[in-house]
Amino acid sequence: MASTTPILLFASLLFLFSISSALRPHALVVPVAKDAATLQYVTRVDQRTPPVLVKLVVDLGGRFLWVDCENGYHSSSYRPVRCRSARCSLAMANACGDCFSAPRPGCNNNTCGVFPENPFIRTSTGGELAEDVLSLPSTDGFNPGPLATDRTFLFSCAPTSLLEGLAIGAAGMAGLGRTKIGVPSQLAATFSFHRKFALCLSSSTSSDGVIFFGDGPYHFLLNVDASQSLIYTPLIINPVSTAGTYVAGEKSAEYFIGVKSIKINEKTVPINTKLLSIDRNGVGGTKISTVTPYTVLETSIYKAVTSAFQKSLANVTKAAAVAPFTVCFNSKEIGSTRVGPAVPSIDLVLQNANVFWRIFGANSMVQVNDDVLCLGFVDGGAKPRTSVVIGGHQLEDNLLQFDLATSRLGFSSSLLFRQTTCANFNFTSNA
Ligand SMILES: *[C@@H]1O[C@H](CO)[C@@H](O)[C@H](O)[C@H]1NC(C)=O
Ligand SMILES: *[C@@H]1O[C@H](CO)[C@@H](O)[C@H](O)[C@H]1NC(C)=O
Ligand SMILES: *[C@@H]1O[C@H](CO)[C@@H](O)[C@H](O)[C@H]1NC(C)=O
Repeated sequence: MASTTPILLFASLLFLFSISSALRPHALVVPVAKDAATLQYVTRVDQRTPPVLVKLVVDLGGRFLWVDCENGYHSSSYRPVRCRSARCSLAMANACGDCFSAPRPGCNNNTCGVFPENPFIRTSTGGELAEDVLSLPSTDGFNPGPLATDRTFLFSCAPTSLLEGLAIGAAGMAGLGRTKIGVPSQLAATFSFHRKFALCLSSSTSSDGVIFFGDGPYHFLLNVDASQSLIYTPLIINPVSTAGTYVAGEKSAEYFIGVKSIKINEKTVPINTKLLSIDRNGVGGTKISTVTPYTVLETSIYKAVTSAFQKSLANVTKAAAVAPFTVCFNSKEIGSTRVGPAVPSIDLVLQNANVFWRIFGANSMVQVNDDVLCLGFVDGGAKPRTSVVIGGHQLEDNLLQFDLATSRLGFSSSLLFRQTTCANFNFTSNA
């Protein structure tokens, strides 16, 4: 019988090893669908006990994850966070919430009060900070693997009314912003992986794009590691919060980059470059947004860009404007390339003239009907808070890696050049 001991020991070592590798994933992965009706990007995660698959609209600059707790939230692992607790200070919150009806998730006394926000209806409400189980598939960068579970994932409860304007079926929003309780930082802290995440939005409403939490590789069929050959630019902190409700001194949780100039067909567009820097009131600059379907430009920039674009496509017959766009063309006269319609390139020039984000036809043009292609940028009015908001259409089929530790953005440029797309992650599980 003496010989059984080593075998048992070996078996239990294997068991321990498999548990710890499940607990210590190198990275996590979630699918992201593009909702055809709203053009919002919707991810899916397991939350609660027993687990429920929750659909959440992705808000790149959102401060935290929030869900509707008023309607059908049942979970034996739900715990409200007390005000003045260490968990509450992670949220930089200082309000104590009380609730004057029967206790339930989202309605407890002496809880940590935060302000979940719905950017589509520009509304924020008071919400109770809470923790519950959240599970996401781990990944080796090629496929999804075993689920990794955070048992005390922080999120905010919100009333059902805050779901107004969200894609059908969504129960809240997943904030990927730059805060300690943003989804990327919490997952990185729980699983001790790099404070990095990557976003790859699909241009198709029928095949999922992907978000990776943690470092690469990020593999797409056939055999493209999109974490390789990224171009890097610093992420800039806006010193003034851009949220609807915030505490004094709070920085913006959104991701800003330092666009210095804009080129069309490699020629600089004359614009007031002051608009491209962030002033001490937090006004101006360029941010990246997943809750804005098309890039929004301050009026004078919009006029300069659309006029330069039309000049460099002067050969092509113009078509009547189709809202929200104003510059449209007869698509039959425009050729096609691997990276979309053959139109002048639009460059967002970054820290120096050699570093630019080049936008090709697939990301600049929108096919509004069989015969008409429009320049997919919109006018943001004369005094917007942020001068350039890079929106979803311009992000699709580009991989963006946000590194919170070094405060830099890595971007791939169009994956179509590499004969793949953001919809080409292999979601077949090898768990
Ligand atoms: C909170 O405290 C108030 C006052 O003591 C009480 O009326 C209310 O029922 C409590 N709410 C909950 C959810 O326990
Ligand atoms: C217009 O078309 C001609 C001939 O196809 C081409 O040589 C020229 O570069 C085009 N001009 C512009 C502004 O696109
Ligand atoms: C996708 O992954 C599965 C599981 O690892 C594998 O069997 C399959 O061949 C992969 N598909 C492609 C097209 O590589």
